[in-house]
Amino acid sequence: MKGLILSGGKGTRLYPLTYTRAKQLIPVANKPVLVRVIEAIHEANVDEIGIVVGHTEPEIRQALGDGSQWGVKLTYIPQDSPDGLAHAVRISQDFLQGSPFVMFLGDNVIEGGISELIKDFATNEWNSQIVLKQVENPSAYGVAKLRQDGSIEYLVEKPKDPPSDLALVGIYMFDENIFEAVNTIKPSARGEYEITDAIQWLIDNGRTVFPHVHQGWWIDTGKPTDMLEANSLVLEELTPTIADTAEIDEASVLDSRVTVQPGAKITNSIVRGPTVIGENTVIENCYIGPFTSIYHDVQVVNCEIEHSIILENSSVINIDQRLRDSLIGRNATVEQADKKPSGIKMTLGDHSHLWV
Ligand code: DAU
Repeated sequence: MKGLILSGGKGTRLYPLTYTRAKQLIPVANKPVLVRVIEAIHEANVDEIGIVVGHTEPEIRQALGDGSQWGVKLTYIPQDSPDGLAHAVRISQDFLQGSPFVMFLGDNVIEGGISELIKDFATNEWNSQIVLKQVENPSAYGVAKLRQDGSIEYLVEKPKDPPSDLALVGIYMFDENIFEAVNTIKPSARGEYEITDAIQWLIDNGRTVFPHVHQGWWIDTGKPTDMLEANSLVLEELTPTIADTAEIDEASVLDSRVTVQPGAKITNSIVRGPTVIGENTVIENCYIGPFTSIYHDVQVVNCEIEHSIILENSSVINIDQRLRDSLIGRNATVEQADKKPSGIKMTLGDHSHLWV
């Protein structure tokens, strides 16, 4: 079995964070989503992984290298333009040939890993296995309509009028039959070679596609609210640790669900978990509430933060109101303006959103 991770695309729904960074590298509970995907595949004993990359290839290469840090061997497969998930499979054919494979979208996070799914696929005679999950907004995804007996009647990509509430999760297993499918289908109305159409081709041409309905949580980290939700869910699962090199003074109170990473310094603060404080981050005179991930080299002084993600090298200083439900990018500064005239002052990137 081989692995294929899709990490190209544009990430437009996560602007402005993704103007300057691959969306798959944004951390959830202080670990990039892409690293979580690699770990899930490795845990299922699949170590030979192709990774489809687009214009953010240099950044992804720098973050992942050859994969040996996670015990896997990564092969980079450049995609000239994001022409669809089925197109990504097409350009990976040379790498994948001769082995069944699991395809995992690099922006998906799923509860419980994929080991059982891979085992089921290996022990059955299916040509493909897809993963479905009941969702409230099926129109945002590929959707499956099942028959009474549980088999797939048909699949449709992002339908206006969804035939069911079963969304396609971004994890798929295929044997070599998929190559005929991806080489035969035509682009969809939005101009992409859809993997949903390729799977429909398998069904229409008598191949066996097994639908597994996933019971745990699943998040496609496409939008800022999805990132916050994924962050909360993953934080809930984290086994808390306090690094030996973290400095926490006597005046600070941390509850049992707080993770503090190496070199972090917490002074005169209250931290309630589940929360993670990143490497060399400084927290001073603060309240840090549940479901917060503060990444590396951040400075937080005299403020209250809850249910938020703050990325590296940023600072949040002297804020009177509690900051909540926020996603703050890298090298950002949020501070109290103390000069007259009073008023709100801001320098926001394109597509930023500020609630006052
Ligand atoms: O997350 C599940 C959904 O993923 C499924 O329900 C849909 O059926 C499927 O089409 C897909 O929809 P998205 O709109 O979420 O796909 P997105 O464009 O976000 O791309 C998913 C990942 O694949 C992302 O990490 C970027 C990467 N990608 C995407 C395209 C279009 C590529 O590597 N190459 C591409 O050409």
